[in-house]
Amino acid sequence: MTRQTLTIRRPDDWHLHLRDGAMLNGVLPYSAAHFARAIIMPNLVPPVVTGAQAAAYRDRILAALPDGAGFTPLMTLYLTEETDPDDVAAAHAAGIATAVKLYPAGATTNSASGVRDFDKVMPVLERMAEIGMPLCVHGEVVDSDIDIFDREKVFIDKVLHPIRKRVDDLRVVMEHVTTQDAVDYVRDHHKRLAATITTHHLIINRNAILAGGIRPHYYCLPVAKRESHRIALVDAATSGDWRFFLGTDSAPHADPAKLQDCGCAGIFSAPNTLSCLAEVFDAADRLDRLEAFTSLNGPAFYGLPPNEARVTLVKGDPVVYPARIETGEGPVTVFDPGFPLHWRVDGA
Ligand code: NCD
Ligand code: ZN
Repeated sequence: MTRQTLTIRRPDDWHLHLRDGAMLNGVLPYSAAHFARAIIMPNLVPPVVTGAQAAAYRDRILAALPDGAGFTPLMTLYLTEETDPDDVAAAHAAGIATAVKLYPAGATTNSASGVRDFDKVMPVLERMAEIGMPLCVHGEVVDSDIDIFDREKVFIDKVLHPIRKRVDDLRVVMEHVTTQDAVDYVRDHHKRLAATITTHHLIINRNAILAGGIRPHYYCLPVAKRESHRIALVDAATSGDWRFFLGTDSAPHADPAKLQDCGCAGIFSAPNTLSCLAEVFDAADRLDRLEAFTSLNGPAFYGLPPNEARVTLVKGDPVVYPARIETGEGPVTVFDPGFPLHWRVDGA
C-alpha cells in the first residue's frame, strides 16, 4: 500500500489559551510543536488589558518556549469599558497587539471584566476600524433568561449585527462559531467578517457531554450544539471558503478544576488537534482543503503572509498521544475525539 501523506504550509492557531506560569510552561510546547503563530487569548487573572501588559505577557510566553521553537505569539487586548483607544492604537502600531478581544461580561471563564454597556466601547471600536485592527468576539449573550443553546444566535441579532452596523469598517472575527446560524450569518455578511472554528466543535455534538453520564472534559463555551449544527461547521470548515479558519480554543484547566461541583469550561486539544483535523477532512473527502483552513485563510484575513515552512501529515497506524499531560499546576486531560486518529505530524 502506498503511504498516504499530505504536505501543507505550517498551520497557525487563531484562538488559543496559553495561561501563565506553570500552566504556560506545561502546555506551550504542544502548540509550538505544530503551529507557527497563534492569537493568544488575554483572559488571565487579572486580564491582559493594556499594551504594556500584553508586551509583558508576550515576553513570558517567549521565555517559556522550548529551545529552537519557531513560534510567534500574536497578542490580544482584553476589551473593558475603561479601555483607552490611544493605548490600543499605540500597541497595534508597535506590533505588540494584533487584535482586541471582546467578552460580554460573564460569558465565560475569567470574563468578569468584559463589556456590559456597548456604548462605552464605541470610541475604541471606531479607532480600531480606522487603523484596521480586528475585533475578536466571544459571541454569546449572557442573559440568564436566554437558553444556553440559543446564546450565540441571540448574540448575532442583538449585539453583533448592531455593532457591525454602527462601526461599518470594523474587521470582526466571530470566534468559535457553533451554529448553522453563525455560519449563515458569516456567509451572508462577508464584508470584513470571518469566523474561527474549533477542532472539538467539528467532532462532538451536545450528546457527547451527556453520554452515559456527565462528561466534564467535553464541556466548553460556547457549549457544543446539536448534530445538525456540527454538520454545518464541518461543511464550512471543509469548504475552502476564506471566511472560515482554525482557532482551536485549546483551553487547559487542571483536572481538579474541571472535576468539581461547578467545573470549568474548556477543552485542551493542542497535542492532537492536527491529527483530529486531518481525520475530519479525510472523512469528508476534503483533505485538499485542509491547508486553506489551517494555514491560508487566517493569515489572509489578518493581512499576514502564510508561513513558508511546511508540515507533512502521514496516514498510518493509530496515533499514540497521552490521555493527559502533566503540568506544574496538575494533570490536564487531552481532548478525546472518540475515534482512532490515523494522521500524525511527521517528525513531531
Ligand atoms: C475558555 C477558557 O477556559 O479560558 N473556555 C472555553 O470553554 N472555551 C474561555 C473561552 O474561550 O470561552
Ligand atoms: Zn477561548
